[in-house]
Amino acid sequence: MTLYEGPEQPSLALAEQVRDLSKGFKTMSLTQLIYTSRPFGFDDLALMNILLVSRHNNERDNITGSLICREDIYLQLLEGPRAAVSSTYARIMRDDRHAEVVLLWAGDVKERLFPAWFMRHDPVQSWMWTPQQVRAGAVNEAPMEEIRNIFVRLAASPN
Ligand SMILES: Cc1cc2nc3c(=O)[nH]c(=O)nc-3n(C[C@H](O)[C@H](O)[C@H](O)COP(=O)(O)O)c2cc1C
Repeated sequence: MTLYEGPEQPSLALAEQVRDLSKGFKTMSLTQLIYTSRPFGFDDLALMNILLVSRHNNERDNITGSLICREDIYLQLLEGPRAAVSSTYARIMRDDRHAEVVLLWAGDVKERLFPAWFMRHDPVQSWMWTPQQVRAGAVNEAPMEEIRNIFVRLAASPN
């Protein structure tokens, strides 16, 4: 008995289309966001607490990224599903452990920079701005490429 009498393998093309669509959807929904802020009450314990909660929540929310931190500056990259990144950023903005939160960049990306890190933590490296430059507003004036490159270099460096 023949169960199907239409053209050969009718479902193959359709399956391919669905696969392509879902690939596109995944790509579209992966968002990266970079912001900077000024720490308030920065010390090792405060930082440890932030990282502990961040890693716990980010694992739950499928978010990865990196937090560059120094007494005078936070620079954080968050990446993950758009809705999760935006609700995490909304919580972060309300946090009184920092001030002057400024969004530097947000956009869709094809792949994660920190796929293995629920939140990589990094003390500011020598190639970042000096405290004087930070005070003078260097971060807000830096070209976006420069800011993104900081994270690209960090992602490529051993932990
Ligand atoms: C500099 C900084 C970075 C933070 N990064 C994250 C993060 O990556 N993920 C996260 O869930 N919370 C992060 N937090 C903590 C949030 O602000 C917030 O306290 C936490 O998500 C718990 O929110 P809730 O008490 O409303 O549930 C960060 C806080 C600061 C000050």
